Amino acid sequence: MVPTAETFDVVVIGGGPGGYATALYGAAAGLKIALIEKGKLGGTCLNLGCIPAKELLETASVFRAVAGAAEFGISTSAPTVDFGAVQARKQQVVEQLVGGLGTLLKRRKVTVYDGFGTLGPDHVVKVSGGASGDVELFGDAVVVATGSVPRTIPGFDVDGRLVVTSDELLSLQPLPATAAVIGGGAIGCEFASMMADLGTKVTVLEALPKILPGCDDDITKIVRRQFSKRDIDVRTGVAVTGHEPRKKKGTTVRFGEGETLDVDLVVVSVGRRPFTEGVLDAGTAVVIDERGFVEVDHLCRTPEPGVYAVGDVIATPALAHIGFIEGITVVKDILGESPVGVDYANVPWCIYCFPEVAFAGMSEQSATAAGIEVKVSAHRYMGNGRALIIGEPDGMVKIIARADAAGNAGQIIGVHMVGPWVTEQLGQGYLAVNWGATVDEVAQFIQPHPTLSELFGESVLALTGRSLHG
Ligand code: NAI
Repeated sequence: MVPTAETFDVVVIGGGPGGYATALYGAAAGLKIALIEKGKLGGTCLNLGCIPAKELLETASVFRAVAGAAEFGISTSAPTVDFGAVQARKQQVVEQLVGGLGTLLKRRKVTVYDGFGTLGPDHVVKVSGGASGDVELFGDAVVVATGSVPRTIPGFDVDGRLVVTSDELLSLQPLPATAAVIGGGAIGCEFASMMADLGTKVTVLEALPKILPGCDDDITKIVRRQFSKRDIDVRTGVAVTGHEPRKKKGTTVRFGEGETLDVDLVVVSVGRRPFTEGVLDAGTAVVIDERGFVEVDHLCRTPEPGVYAVGDVIATPALAHIGFIEGITVVKDILGESPVGVDYANVPWCIYCFPEVAFAGMSEQSATAAGIEVKVSAHRYMGNGRALIIGEPDGMVKIIARADAAGNAGQIIGVHMVGPWVTEQLGQGYLAVNWGATVDEVAQFIQPHPTLSELFGESVLALTGRSLHG
């Protein structure tokens, strides 16, 4: 077809991490890019996810530090929270990043369209309903990066007052006195931790036998112990069936075998679902599977030649950094650079509750279930100088290595951490797992002293058969 539309090398639908990474990386490679966004640039991550959630968790961390200052000989009065100021700071961080992204896109000469993008046949994308008016764009390649929205469950209609998802919770002020968090995944645990630190009495109701799916059991145990110390009630293996608003205030949640819980607020955090409504017109070969995900191959290619999908709209881990790497992979494929697909089994996971959790690769349980003979070492932050200095000695680093032919620890296949700043420490564990490094190779590297990361080094060293402190 001869396009009548404005033409680009790549038209990207969606300005979240998957979409904007595609646009920025593609533009850096000299491609002419259009980026269509119906809401705010930065998508869920910058506006309603990672950034505002972690900013509020940092507020919780400051509160804990002030409340615990006496341990360091610092006298303070009991801290109180000004939620107006809390929300203002969060918003300022969000807006600075969203503004910075807009500037970066402009500098890279990406044309940003404000409106809803719909992909039709022959790579034509219609933009409508926004400040850019109704326009048609043609891309040699088109990338669908329309993201996800919170999932809800029957019996819990989101009204923004008694029942909220992460979307509403992030703007709430003040926080409720009591809350039930339904779902103990990453979002549930982060919100439970943040609200409890800022004064809410929290109960987590999780359907599965454990919280934090994918985490090693020893790590989860430490999170639960810390949660319990802060009076967060975690109930696992319970199904919620509905709720009954109370006359004056709050609601009664029904769960388990006829149990009830009176709370001011219900937070539904039972996962996210892909967003594709209105994104695809008939006449393309793009397929949406029964769960709503856009089907792609290992290089994010849909069955329609030249049409890709990245980020939360495909069935890969719903993490901003996965959107980034998928965007990069797609651009390399468009450029004919034969990229290697993402190794989804070994991506980094970071959960910012207190205590933080970070991991890459197999847990001891998943390795054993896969029939892999493993050698494991686990070390506690209790023996780490820096952890004692900062007053956060509760935590663990656990290394899972494949046993070699002689039965000794060989290749590192999993690094699982819980404790102070582990989200910042996972990097070398992630590299070790993805490089296929052995414990003998990694044990040669020096860890600066005194640092929290010495515990990673110590745990690896122990697997060589000789340890220093452990
Ligand atoms: P999730 O899928 O990680 O966890 C949801 C939890 O809810 C599961 O444990 C599930 O068993 C439970 N659940 C489902 N239905 C339930 C019910 N009816 N009653 C009780 N429990 C129920 O989803 P989550 O935490 O909402 O996060 C969504 C996505 O966002 C995930 O893919 C996650 O990876 C990502 N995310 C990652 C973060 C991070 O890495 N720091 C932070 C926030 C989100």
